This record gives sequence, structure tokens and C-alpha cells, in this order.
Amino acid sequence: MAQIRTVGVLGCGLMGSGIAQVCVQAGYETVVREISDDVLQRGLGGIGKQLGRAVEKGKMGGEDRDAALGRLSGTTELSELASCDLIIEAVVEDLEVKNAMWRTLDEVCGANTIFASNTSSLTIADMAAATRRPERMVGLHFFNPVPVMKLVEVVKTIATDPRVFDTAFEFAKSLGKEPITCKDNSGFVVNLLLVPYMMDAIRALEQGVASIEDIDKGMRLGTGYPMGPFTLCDFVGNDTLDKIGDIMYGEYKEKRYASPPLLKRMVSMGYYGRKAGKGFYDYSQEPARPLELGI
Ligand code: 3HC
Repeated sequence: MAQIRTVGVLGCGLMGSGIAQVCVQAGYETVVREISDDVLQRGLGGIGKQLGRAVEKGKMGGEDRDAALGRLSGTTELSELASCDLIIEAVVEDLEVKNAMWRTLDEVCGANTIFASNTSSLTIADMAAATRRPERMVGLHFFNPVPVMKLVEVVKTIATDPRVFDTAFEFAKSLGKEPITCKDNSGFVVNLLLVPYMMDAIRALEQGVASIEDIDKGMRLGTGYPMGPFTLCDFVGNDTLDKIGDIMYGEYKEKRYASPPLLKRMVSMGYYGRKAGKGFYDYSQEPARPLELGI
């Protein structure tokens, strides 16, 4: 089985920074690529802060933190990922944006580099087909917050070389994660089930079944979920959820995946959730207050 030593991560947002963090913690030389120096520095700074917190909590030694940060570098150039053994993409959920990067990387990377996408809802095949190495493309789908959530969905397409899949599966294990094997269907396992649940919660709110707080409380206390659905929507990002809904609805043509009108209006207003300071809850004060919907 091919050995992974160096990892490239495309995107240093919520998911990309978490993925880069777990890679350097597991001992991989990791280079993160962002579109501008500003965004890159913000992302790298966030990883430094997370590792600093781990040291403060006594979960990691100062030397280990320094070693992990020593394995981390950043760039704005795709060509600097040319010598990576594995590249994991975690950019915006837009097939054209992702495929433009894959086409460039396909040109500059060695023939053995494995391409992996952290897509939430696109199919891996739709990216693999844009490259001349479809057999070397897999899905590696992580969950937010990446350093905490144990699961990685490892996805094989109808073209993935089984040895590439095995390498990706072992790589996920080497990060301390629990991988599962998934077929290349939109949403894989978790989002196939989770997205309709979140959309249904929004539809229940639209129908006036209960308030934001009570729907959240109901699902937390009634099922033991760590977060209610609206806290989770805000946590994932309502803009991201809306994009995922559009893609999954496009794939399956089933209403349960479609973004309800309220979600669309919230995205228009910039109520993206926790990262925007406002979503189904207003985070400008502690504790966060549910949004007044006037219904
Ligand atoms: N980044 C890193 N670490 C974090 C974190 C973050 N954003 N948020 C919390 N943590 C850490 C805390 O530091 C703490 O660590 P410690 O045990 O070492 O002190 C630990 O997680 C527990 O945190 P808290 O005690 O503050 O709070 P909770 O016990 O409520 O846990 C949670 C927080 C882990 C986020 C929990 O609420 C949870 O599991 N929520 C559900 C998350 C979920 O469903 N994620 C999947 C979203 S879907 C997705 O990602 C797929 C995509 O395709 C859409």
C-alpha cells in the first residue's frame, strides 16, 4: 500500500483548517492552500490557537505543539502542492470551483498523487471525471468540528482503484478517526439522513409546530442529540446547508432534500449562523437568543 507522507489541503476555512490540524497532529507534513494571503493567515492562526488551547488544557505538550506547527505551511499557489502524496479538497460547495482546481492539480502533480474531496453533497465521480486520474480519486468526508468528531466517510466511485481506497481508509485511521466505507451517492451516509432532518425542522418551524427553542430542546432531551437542529444548522452554516440542499434536491428530485423558503430568505439576509453572528439564534449576547421570526 502506498505510503502517505505529505498532505495538501485546499481551503483553510472551518473544515480545511480542522483537517490540516489533525494531519499535522498525526505527523504529516501538511501544506494548506488558500486564495489570498489574508484568508490563509486567518486560517493558520486559527490552527495555532486550537493547538495552543490543547496545551493549556494539558492535552498536548508544548514541544508536541511546536513540532505539529513545524509540519504546517501555507501557500496561495496550487503548484506548491505538486509533490504531495495526498491532496484533500475542502473549498466551497461548487463543482466548477472544485474542478478548476482539480484540473490544474492534475497537470502539476505527480502521477501517484491521490486526490480526495471533503464534499458534503457532490459526487466524487463528477470531480474524478474532470481529471485524467479518476482511479486515484476518493472521498474523505470529515465532520465539524474535525478535531473532535471521530467519523470519516471514505468514498469509492465506480472508477476508484481498490488500492487507492485502502490507502485513503488507512490514512483516515492514522488520524485517529473511525472510517466507514461509502458508495458515491450524493450525501454519502450521514448527510443522506441528516439533511432531510434539518430541512424538516425548518419546515416544522414554518408550519408553527413549535418555537426554535422548543424544537431544539425537544430533539436534545427527547433523543439525546448533542445539539438541536437549529443550533446544528447555525453550526454547519445556513449558506452551506442551502447549497447542500440544492445539490441533493437536484440529484434526487425529492422534496425532503430541498431548502425550505425560510432557509432561502435567511441566506439572502446573511443569517449564515454562528460564523456570521446571526442565524436561527443571535450570538451577539450570551446566551444566544432565538431569532424573532414574527410568525
Ligand atoms: N473546534 C475544536 N474543538 C471543539 C470545538 C470546535 N469548534 N467545539 C468544541 N470543541 C471541543 C471542546 O474544546 C471540548 O474539548 P475538551 O473535551 O478537550 O475540553 C469538546 O469539544 C467538547 O466541547 P464542549 O464541552 O464545549 O461542548 P459539547 O460537549 O457540547 O460538545 C460538540 C461540542 C462536540 C460540538 C457537540 O455539541 C456536538 O457533537 N455537536 C454536534 C456536532 C455535529 O453534529 N457535527 C456534524 C455536523 S454535519 C457535518 O459536519 C457534515 C457536513 O458535510 C455538513
